[in-house]
Amino acid sequence: MLLNKIYNEDCLVGLKKIPDNFVDLVLIDPPYDICTIGGKKGTSKLAKGILKLERELVNNDLVSSFDTKVLDELVRVMKGINIYIWCNVRQIPMYIKYFNLQLKCKLEIVIWNKTNPMPLYGNTYMNDKEYCLYFRNGGYCKPASYEDAKTVYVSKSNIEDKRLYEHPTIKPLELIRKMIRNSSKENDVVLDCFLGSGTTVVACILEHRNYIGFEINKKYYDMSNKRINEAKKNLGGR
Ligand SMILES: C[S@@+](CC[C@H](N)C(=O)[O-])C[C@H]1O[C@@H](n2cnc3c(N)ncnc32)[C@H](O)[C@@H]1O
Repeated sequence: MLLNKIYNEDCLVGLKKIPDNFVDLVLIDPPYDICTIGGKKGTSKLAKGILKLERELVNNDLVSSFDTKVLDELVRVMKGINIYIWCNVRQIPMYIKYFNLQLKCKLEIVIWNKTNPMPLYGNTYMNDKEYCLYFRNGGYCKPASYEDAKTVYVSKSNIEDKRLYEHPTIKPLELIRKMIRNSSKENDVVLDCFLGSGTTVVACILEHRNYIGFEINKKYYDMSNKRINEAKKNLGGR
């Protein structure tokens, strides 16, 4: 298993090639457990927009949950438990049970607060935030500034990035950079086994961390490589 390389592979297969106690930080954004409204038709611009997004998620296999054996592999490869996991509200109990109750980790929740959510609040609250759970037991965490120590990141949803990097669930690069700065040191090894468009790896390059990444979908893997090459070129090679 080479460092500073990404693999077009199912992570459950790829992770088995990483030695025990090898990784300093894991930062993952696995597929969300989403209950689609699929099939319901709407004629308004908003309803059409939601159906289009749902179709994109379903067609690219981004709504089925993942094999939780991955978590056992991640725990095996980490030096101490030091892991950020993006998730939706339905997945929180599963992660709390696994990391807090079984592995006695500390929990912090980082929130991405979107300032321009879809205006849907008929019989519920608006979908204006995303959760990233941070579990730690022996892992490093040392924010270097007041700004970096904040747990709520406020921005509009990153429509430009989605368009540019052709991934529907891309996360904000600045927030991922901050998590990496806070929870690892220069030249540490950071692992993301659900790469998507490669945001974590680009953040690693900019923050001078080593990385390993996996992405199962060839289209997204190719996009990650393109972004990585651009980031390296902008830094003058690394
Ligand atoms: C939510 S997206 C990640 C988006 C990413 N954070 C970004 O900023 O672009 C999850 C990704 O995991 C990939 N994936 C799903 N199951 C996988 C598996 N078993 N192994 C590797 N990648 C997988 C999907 O193809 C998808 O691109």
